[in-house]
Amino acid sequence: MPIARLSFKRVEKSRGRIAAASLIVLLLASIVIAGCTEVPNPTATPVAFDPTPAAPGTRDLVLAGASAADIAAFAAEPIVLPEGNASNGEALHTSLGCAACHSVGDDVIVGPGWKGLYTRAGERTDLGAEDYLVQSITKPSKFIAEGFTNVMPAFDYLSDQELADLIAFVKANE
Ligand code: HEC
Repeated sequence: MPIARLSFKRVEKSRGRIAAASLIVLLLASIVIAGCTEVPNPTATPVAFDPTPAAPGTRDLVLAGASAADIAAFAAEPIVLPEGNASNGEALHTSLGCAACHSVGDDVIVGPGWKGLYTRAGERTDLGAEDYLVQSITKPSKFIAEGFTNVMPAFDYLSDQELADLIAFVKANE
């Protein structure tokens, strides 16, 4: 049956062509996809640090982001915390990981030791010790204690009770 054989051959041939064509399409597609990979952006020019004058009443602090307006806004909304429990605060110092960076004595681990912190906190700004402590725990990048860098994570998810307990511990640790 020569005709049948012939058409069989044709089918084989055209199948071969289809396979070759799809291979080429695949190759082209992969070249295009490879070409689409992200080109590394040149790093943005660093923003020049333009220090703002210290807010009135802010002593002893390098201000990184806390403007006079911030301080005024914090002061205008005094934080009212529930009664704190110092021994819960002591437990939180460990369980929240504060202890990894803050000793309860004078030694510096990563951040300042907590000995005398309550008194210092009261002298830092005109916010008062409690408000200053709340602000520097929940928004640490606003207040950078002098001689330290801005590496403390923001504990902005703590409950009022947890904040009150931590502060009660800081106070008791004087
Ligand atoms: C990764 C290290 C790290 C951890 C964890 C950390 N801190 Fe800090 N903390 C710092 C550093 C560094 C500073 C000083 C720079 C600054 O003021 O942000 C600081 C500053 C502070 C200050 C201000 C101290 C002052 O003298 O004005 C308070 C209050 C404070 N931390 C409380 C806490 C509490 C509470 C926790 C846990 C819930 C905590 N920190 C966890 C590193 C840390």
